[in-house]
Amino acid sequence: MEYLKRTTTCGALRKGDAGQIVALNGWVHRKRDHGGISFINLRDRYGITQVVVDADAEAALKASAAELKNEYCLSVRGRVRARPDSMVNPDMPTGEIEVVVSELQILTRCETLPFQIDERSDAKEETRLKYRYLDLRSGAMQYRMRLRHEVAFAVREHLASEGFYEIETPTFIRSTPEGARDYLVPSRLYPGKFYALPQSPQLYKQILMVSGMDKYFQIARCYRDEDARGDRQPEFTQIDIEMSFVKRDDVLSMVERLFGHVFRKTLGEELPANFRRISYDESMELYGTDKPDLRFGLAMKDIGDLAARSTFQAFKDALAAGGAVKALVAPDKADYSRKQIEELEAAAKVYRAKGMAWFKVAAGEGGAAAQLEGGASKFFAGEGAPAGLASDLVAALGAKSGDLVLMVADAKRKVACQSLGAVRSKLGKDLGLCDPKRFEFAWIVDFPMFEWNEDENRWEAAHHMFTMPQERFHATMESDPGSVKGDLYDLVLNGYELASGSIRIHDPDLQKRVFKIVGFSEEDAQKKFGFLTEAFKYGPPPHGGIAPGLDRLVMLMAGDTSIKEVIAFPKNSFAVSPMDDCPNEVDQKQLDELHIKIVEKAESK
Ligand code: AMO
Repeated sequence: MEYLKRTTTCGALRKGDAGQIVALNGWVHRKRDHGGISFINLRDRYGITQVVVDADAEAALKASAAELKNEYCLSVRGRVRARPDSMVNPDMPTGEIEVVVSELQILTRCETLPFQIDERSDAKEETRLKYRYLDLRSGAMQYRMRLRHEVAFAVREHLASEGFYEIETPTFIRSTPEGARDYLVPSRLYPGKFYALPQSPQLYKQILMVSGMDKYFQIARCYRDEDARGDRQPEFTQIDIEMSFVKRDDVLSMVERLFGHVFRKTLGEELPANFRRISYDESMELYGTDKPDLRFGLAMKDIGDLAARSTFQAFKDALAAGGAVKALVAPDKADYSRKQIEELEAAAKVYRAKGMAWFKVAAGEGGAAAQLEGGASKFFAGEGAPAGLASDLVAALGAKSGDLVLMVADAKRKVACQSLGAVRSKLGKDLGLCDPKRFEFAWIVDFPMFEWNEDENRWEAAHHMFTMPQERFHATMESDPGSVKGDLYDLVLNGYELASGSIRIHDPDLQKRVFKIVGFSEEDAQKKFGFLTEAFKYGPPPHGGIAPGLDRLVMLMAGDTSIKEVIAFPKNSFAVSPMDDCPNEVDQKQLDELHIKIVEKAESK
């Protein structure tokens, strides 16, 4: 039988439509029977409409209504009726009307549901991913998919308006070292050879600049074989951007305009015209991370000078070894229990702090003599401590009575900063300072160009090898790689790294010098990036770019903490898709065609 096609959607009808005959298609969201009347909430992507099978309906119609269960797919025809004032549902856009059914077709039936659609948040994540099509029916997921679509659309709209071309780059590429492990695709035609899936379109976008494309972007799929985490997936999407004849500030202001447009268009949110800029060093000193959550302060202070005057041997040893003592004030938290303090200490230890010291401030603000209590207070205020040290410390920290002061010392400055930074992050969450509706953007600039890899005993590129070292370091790059700052920048939002980018090297000689510092011989470089160095022989323009992660962006805009929530079909934390159960074994014939022999079966996870 031909099915009855809808004349309108389940979100469209209003009081003014009363009297019309309409047809609706959708799913049974909920059904209630009341005094012989069936009330069915019929749902589609556009909304929910109450349809009613009245008590005096024909027997066949009533029988169909009686059979209905949640998530049956239906077609109904009926007359729109205004609800009496007392029955209006102000929470539903269609709450002023209902449709009195004259014809009802059950299009398809639904088996027992693994979870009720509007109770999906109670279901296990694994179950939600296995039945993702049901999960996606929920209002919460429909909102996320709509937001993602609107964000991508606004990105295209804005970049096109600024003269960018969207250009696709291949997803079967040459395997090149880019940081993470590559996903490989075996070639059937060339046994023993492989394509790699791109970790990002980095080299192609730079080559597009050599091609004179000037302004490129792509909403690009990227693939990285690394462990999945809350903000990471093995396949994810970047808003990949590259521009010619630009300097750092051109890229940053283009991104500020782009995000300004996207947030205005999709959330109606007005962002500041410029995002604040923080140097990497300052970010590490104040927040202990290069992706600070700036929705709250709780900035750290360096109390090395004061700690040196204390009687705390552990602090003095750390300072003597060239390290640092960092402190943080938790306002009004002097009532924290030992257990709560231990939990904060555990956060510090994740970043290799040996411990976290603390004391409570009992008095001392506004020039009064300070009184410290508990924990490490004796080293600053007890026997042997210089007079006035406690007051100097309280003044330096800007603390007041009732505050809790937390401190980490380490022989390695970075360990002290990162560990107390982790405590700061935990405090921000514990104290409810992370309002998901606030968006605090910041640029982190002046990153180190090279990082020392302790395991491999060599320098490596902090971002990637094509990043321009800042000009003022060009002369001293080889003699002191550790001090070189790169012309690279990260955009952070609410404690997440949202985007990374840099001005690239366009001078082949400079590129060779960078390759050499990170231990790439000319031969190696030729073998791995020969095509790029070749292209760069033909008049490459100065250029630079950036790549915001689309998944992370939509996640933060939707107020989520996992990117899985904003990806239609994500992998779970074991890089498995529970819905189609991949990765999976393949036929022997397929393996033979690819000349692949499985020598040892991996233990299944
Ligand atoms: P980078 O590797 O820093 O830079 O990535 C840029 C942005 O992509 C997002 N991202 C991810 N999102 C989800 N899952 C992942 N596994 C994942 N990895 C990265 C983040 C990150 O900030 N080619 C350079 C960019 C450039 O220099 O132009 C690059 O890929 O939001």
